Amino acid sequence: MVNSLPQPTLETTEARTKVIKENILTPRFYTTDFETAAELDLSSQDTELQAMLTEMRADYNRHHFVRDESFNQSWDHITGEARQAFVDYLERSCVSEFSGFLLFKELSRKLKGRSPLLSEMFSLMARDEARHAGFLNKAMADFGCTMDLGYLTKNRVYTFFPIEWVIYTVYLSEKIGYWRYIIIYRHLEKHPENQFYPLFRYFESWCQDENRHGDIFKALLRSQSKLWQTRRSRWWSRFFLLTVFATHTLTVHERSEFYHTLGLDPTEFDREVIRQTNETAARAFPSVLNTDHPQFFQRLHHCSDLNLKMAEIDRTSQPKWLKVLRKVPFQLAIVGHLLRIYLLKPIDAEALRETIR
Ligand SMILES: [Fe+2]
Ligand SMILES: [Fe+2]
Repeated sequence: MVNSLPQPTLETTEARTKVIKENILTPRFYTTDFETAAELDLSSQDTELQAMLTEMRADYNRHHFVRDESFNQSWDHITGEARQAFVDYLERSCVSEFSGFLLFKELSRKLKGRSPLLSEMFSLMARDEARHAGFLNKAMADFGCTMDLGYLTKNRVYTFFPIEWVIYTVYLSEKIGYWRYIIIYRHLEKHPENQFYPLFRYFESWCQDENRHGDIFKALLRSQSKLWQTRRSRWWSRFFLLTVFATHTLTVHERSEFYHTLGLDPTEFDREVIRQTNETAARAFPSVLNTDHPQFFQRLHHCSDLNLKMAEIDRTSQPKWLKVLRKVPFQLAIVGHLLRIYLLKPIDAEALRETIR
């Protein structure tokens, strides 16, 4: 997959190139089963997909990702923990946007001539993600570091996901991306004094790209009855919701300083993003989580506290083997909490759909 990819058009200009700190929460790069993807029967969602294709071709944001003069200044006044937390935020977002670009680009290439509609759709989505990643990388350059995206493309490990998992997880990451961007944008509209860098002004139209991508994946998901009509699909739906939400809670609390700089309470922000994404997912998934259950956020927050304790262990100068050993009980406790959340009585989204109709 890697060798055949076109060189990204994203710049790697600055001297200090960022090396990713890998952990379980770092966004992954994915590859999938392209044969199965080419053979997907999309006929039941053809009208929706054609409408989405027309929208994607219109390219509403083609003039949006242009840096205006507000970026032309020094950002050296942002220092210390706030600077570090913001650069971490930019890095994670950039890797995640770039991961989408690579997967979509490769899907588009492999489906060419076999599934023309999907091939074009993925190419247009790759266009959007390249813009997003490029814009974030330029923001990183303002803070003295960039990601070497060409190097990443060649040297990062690609995780294989069957196409069904890709559909569930990309749908969720697009929708959670939408909510993350729009909640920050709306908050800063009300509190412009916290807009410490112009990037956030771009989030409103930006998140519409993510919303459209999410809708395309919703149509893909609904075109495959086994992804929403079977008992197994209900288990998978909740499993992916939980993994995406747990990752979100842990990363938001690891970078709480960034949210404080924006004037946001990280716990409240996390809660709102998860609630909204879960509610949105009920339009595509057969079963979603009950975020109103008193144990839901309580246990997620326990996981986050345990994760922060593990980070403290990592920062000590103890030998690696001792750190690994000391972290085991924390990891087991996190798994225990997640299992208990998974087993909470879920919400039957298909039944909800029936009543709305
Ligand atoms: Fe994006
Ligand atoms: Fe996207």
